[in-house]
Amino acid sequence: LDNGLARTPPMGFNSWERFRCVTDCDQFPDTCISEKLYKRIADLMVSEGFVDAGYEYVNIDDCWMAKTRDENDRLIGDPERFPSGIKALADYMHSKGLKLGIYEDFGTETCGGFPGSEFYLKTDAQTFADWGIDLLKLDGCYSFTHDMPVGYPTMEHFLNETGRPMLYSCSWPAYFYPKIPDYDKISTSCNIWRNYADVQDSWDSVLGIMNFYGKNSGNFSAKGGPGHFNDPDMIIVGNYGLSYDQQRVQMAIWAIIAAPLFFSTDLATIKPESKALLLNKNVIAVSQDSLGIEGELAFSLNDVQIWIRRVKPEGSIAFAIVYTGTGGTPKLIQIQCASLGMIKKGVPYSVMEVFDGKHMGLYKATDMFNATVNPTGVFFGRATILG
Ligand code: DGJ
Repeated sequence: LDNGLARTPPMGFNSWERFRCVTDCDQFPDTCISEKLYKRIADLMVSEGFVDAGYEYVNIDDCWMAKTRDENDRLIGDPERFPSGIKALADYMHSKGLKLGIYEDFGTETCGGFPGSEFYLKTDAQTFADWGIDLLKLDGCYSFTHDMPVGYPTMEHFLNETGRPMLYSCSWPAYFYPKIPDYDKISTSCNIWRNYADVQDSWDSVLGIMNFYGKNSGNFSAKGGPGHFNDPDMIIVGNYGLSYDQQRVQMAIWAIIAAPLFFSTDLATIKPESKALLLNKNVIAVSQDSLGIEGELAFSLNDVQIWIRRVKPEGSIAFAIVYTGTGGTPKLIQIQCASLGMIKKGVPYSVMEVFDGKHMGLYKATDMFNATVNPTGVFFGRATILG
């Protein structure tokens, strides 16, 4: 969507994967879906360096609403959990240099059973603009997929009509799966779009998403670019389900495929090594590369996957060598540099290990590259062309 937003993949927080639809604030005062949660996370984003690193959006997901609309058919936040109202929350975010994202659903109800936008698209777009909302995620529960190719662009129209720039995140293609939707139309109407299943707190889930992206059915990767990116779903680094190596894999691959970096974790309890991964400058630099080209799985052989993204300066690449094996011992992977994307003959590339910023030396297309990769781990490299 050409509305000036998401020129690089957006970065921020989303509550869903970690905090879900917990509405019992008596039992869970710090983690229930409430203004307190979003303010708490926002404060930590400021104080712990996330804003400086580029994280910008604080995204409310499902279960924020009152169960009914008000007397003017306008949405309202649950009065117990959002006593100050959503506008005050948006003001709070803006005062901290952050942006506020919100969630609605294209159908009659949200997935969590709160009022949907069907028949109210125009009213809701205006309400969000009046509140000072900066991003809308429009989910697709309780609706018909055949209505989506018209309905989602209709909401795009109403959002645009408010005059307030709001990043538009569409769940439309995810509801088409396994059918292939019209990605041309989607990338014209949406800034980002979910195309596959929800991420869960497990390696199986992350690997499943990677395999979906690896297949790239319908060549959706080619639709990624400034203003319009595929969204493989949230970063779950810092939660319960991934080992440290698996967390590195998620960061590396999400950076290579130019995915939105919306983490869903509690910054109050995150372990230092997970926090360092989220804040890693070299990883973020790959993610936010201004060419905005979406990387792809170049090839896979047994339990080794090679992912490549073209980055600046032109001719340079970021690459990830993922070892999906679980055989217990790290695997020595030897591969010709041309197969990692260093294809220009006779020209040296300076290779850096991305996570540690370690310089690995100069390589040419015909040289061999050796990487020792941990089980369900990754070697993440960046090869800068010299000359
Ligand atoms: C389905 C979406 O894919 C998730 O990301 C989340 O928004 C839930 N719905 C909320 O109910």
